[in-house]
Amino acid sequence: MCGIVGYCGLKQASNILLEGLKRLEYRGYDSAGIGVGNDGKITIIKKKGKIKDLREIVPPDLRGFWGIGHTRWATHGEVNDINAHPHTDQTGKIAIVHNGIIENYMTLKEKLSSEGYNFITETDSEVIAHLIASYYDGELEKAVKKTVALLKGTYGIVCVHADEPGKLVGARNGSPLVLGIGEDEMFLASDVPAILAHTKQVVYIEDGEIVTVTPNSFNTTDHLERNILKTVDNVEWELEEIEKGGYTHFMEKEIHEQPESIMRAMRGRLDIELATGHLGGLNLSSKELLNIERVKIIAAGTSYHAGMVGSYLLESVARIPCTAELSSEVRYRNPIVEPKSLYFAVSQSGETADTLYAMRELQRKGATVLGICNVVGSTIARESDGGVYIHSGPEIAVASTKAFTSQLTVFYLFTLLMARMRHMSYGQGTEFARSLSKVPEQVKKVLDKKEEIKELAKKYSKAKDFLFLGRGINYPVALEGALKLKEISYVHAEGYSAAEIKHGPIALINEYTPSVFLVSDDSLRDKIISNLKEVKARKGKVIAVAVEGDEEVAEIVDDIITVPHTNELMYPFLMVVPLQLFAYYCALELGRNVDQPRNLAKSVTVE
Ligand code: F6R
Repeated sequence: MCGIVGYCGLKQASNILLEGLKRLEYRGYDSAGIGVGNDGKITIIKKKGKIKDLREIVPPDLRGFWGIGHTRWATHGEVNDINAHPHTDQTGKIAIVHNGIIENYMTLKEKLSSEGYNFITETDSEVIAHLIASYYDGELEKAVKKTVALLKGTYGIVCVHADEPGKLVGARNGSPLVLGIGEDEMFLASDVPAILAHTKQVVYIEDGEIVTVTPNSFNTTDHLERNILKTVDNVEWELEEIEKGGYTHFMEKEIHEQPESIMRAMRGRLDIELATGHLGGLNLSSKELLNIERVKIIAAGTSYHAGMVGSYLLESVARIPCTAELSSEVRYRNPIVEPKSLYFAVSQSGETADTLYAMRELQRKGATVLGICNVVGSTIARESDGGVYIHSGPEIAVASTKAFTSQLTVFYLFTLLMARMRHMSYGQGTEFARSLSKVPEQVKKVLDKKEEIKELAKKYSKAKDFLFLGRGINYPVALEGALKLKEISYVHAEGYSAAEIKHGPIALINEYTPSVFLVSDDSLRDKIISNLKEVKARKGKVIAVAVEGDEEVAEIVDDIITVPHTNELMYPFLMVVPLQLFAYYCALELGRNVDQPRNLAKSVTVE
């Protein structure tokens, strides 16, 4: 959840560290700090607040060519200056930054305290600095190896020692760590965006590895001290993709990128001529695909909602029994792995701990788990048995938007592939493929409605509670609409199947609780209109997202946003966009920090 960055080279480290932290601020951001090495000492500057607050207290003349930085999302210990990283040992010569949770830190802390080590923070991370100090005899790398052998939990760590100028030592278990190779300079970071301005050459550090870095060299070993030969990868992302490019917020930019990002997810994969999908990364032959009798999808948050749409499609269109489940629940319920089942782990970041650990548990039981990820080289992408990249480009805003529609795209392609291998005719396949190919253009048309949606946000943003209601394939979209609104505007919102409200939630309806109904022109339209009337009859205000030309709905509801007509299966793409924009504009109306909502972080690497 936290972001880390380390630098050694020929430039002033403080600038590079602050700039790297700024780019990581979206990951975790209640406090930040840097430690810069120079002249036999490490100068630590850290502060509660944003990177700009930190920048203000970093002396312009702080010199030093190597150092570490951290942006914190608090887990152990309150948010204050002292608990911010880097943490040091008692001599102040060793400094560390840590991402993850040390589960056995209390035991280690008690032992170290009894040996005379003095703790000054409430964090779990501080034990790392003292442990390294307890083992240090002139070689940082050796002391780090002994230290990590005692740690239980998750960590991405970068450490420096004042007496070993220009050297960074990194270690990883469960929290991402990537090495960036520049010219006469090296970087260590939790995420590629922190170093993308300097290099595209990266080496992904794996769990259990320790890497020692100097400006011109790196060496990676495992816990048995064996050298590991690493491959250097080239990052595909461009620097512009991690900048706002004229938009006020990353979320706004990412919502608007969807016509292009959906197109990218289907490029080279949607075959209208043969009416099928090509997904090379699955690593499964046609025969193996044909033998699949059940599909199970695991994911968290927005990715889970995409998985729910996927499960609806696979079952109703490809006629393969399919379920989507929260990854956090899968891991601990001793799941049964059936031989002819195929699993998907869906994760934008590819680092979500709940999904990663559930995937590993399933793999231990013999499951084949494919990843649907955005971040290339992420842990889920690497550890899965195959998979598909969604190619959204970097998603920086905490609230996921374009990743959702790209994840959907992959599920539509997989459904088409599987359905065509079974009962779906060429004609039906062509209709499905054509409808899918039109989605990017139609999303553009929905984006053109943003002024109307902004007005709606002005009208409704003061409401304290919202209901989001949909049915069938749009039910997960209602859940997603509610999630978007609550996470960035902090307004309470519940997503339900519209049919379900009469079983309880209708008790919430009064003139102050607006309901957002998703009404497509599918076989459930009349039923959902009945649900809508039930709300109106109780004086509830109704906003409908409905299909262009639906006069009947327009007449009943208080406000309406229309989307173009499409094949009934394609509506999730078109219905989710107004909900994303609505959440965005409500958050603006309420003066929220849209890209960095309180308490949340991108990439949740703790359970
Ligand atoms: C919501 C959101 C989260 C993530 C969830 C899973 O806007 O961003 O709910 O969807 O934390 O993250 P990934 O997809 O990275 O596994």
